[in-house]
Amino acid sequence: MNSHLKKTSIRRLLPKEGMRLKPLRLRMLQEMPKAFNEHMAKFQEKNDDYWIGRAEKIETFILSVGSMDVGTIGVEPLGEEGVRLITLWVDPTHRHKGYGRALIREALTVAMARGAEVAVVEVLRENHNAVTCYEEEGFRYVGETKEGVITMEKYLDRDPMPLEMQPLTFNP
Ligand SMILES: CC(C)(COP(=O)(O)OP(=O)(O)OC[C@H]1O[C@@H](n2cnc3c(N)ncnc32)[C@H](O)[C@@H]1OP(=O)(O)O)[C@@H](O)C(=O)NCCC(=O)NCCS
Repeated sequence: MNSHLKKTSIRRLLPKEGMRLKPLRLRMLQEMPKAFNEHMAKFQEKNDDYWIGRAEKIETFILSVGSMDVGTIGVEPLGEEGVRLITLWVDPTHRHKGYGRALIREALTVAMARGAEVAVVEVLRENHNAVTCYEEEGFRYVGETKEGVITMEKYLDRDPMPLEMQPLTFNP
């Protein structure tokens, strides 16, 4: 079947499906360990209970095209009214089709429905694909947490701030 005829879906991973996280996690760490500040070796030997536990702890969304899992994003609570988006990844063969942005939007829609007011993400300054993707979804640069890692945030009940009102200038 042509790829454009395959069913595309994004949905929350159930804890009992946690094992589906393993190949995604290994692929993302193999490709870009620096972006996730983790190494693949640490996760290769983890057993099913680990992945089920992870899916229980971290709300995780999975993007599937046909029967293939090709992308993911995780959402962690941050204080009383916030969420932190983590581990955004789209398989290289499926990039630049809007899937990264769709994962961000789905995660934010669910977070908003639960009452979250702000979403935060930490991204490597040099990671232009990710920075652009978050900017296009209304995130704005608010500071640098450590050398080379920027924080971006989005208020979920507002339109993005106009560029001239950003608190700091972001020059990638
Ligand atoms: C960051 C990442 C998730 C983006 O995924 P993606 O699916 O390519 O993202 P999108 O397609 O939604 O948007 C990215 C680009 O596609 C463009 N785009 C969106 N919809 C499109 C469409 N229908 N047709 C063509 N291009 C499109 C966007 O304008 C954007 O363009 P640009 O990169 O030229 O500025 C992906 O590059 C990735 O997995 N990177 C490695 C992991 C990573 O860095 N994660 C972030 C850690 S914080």
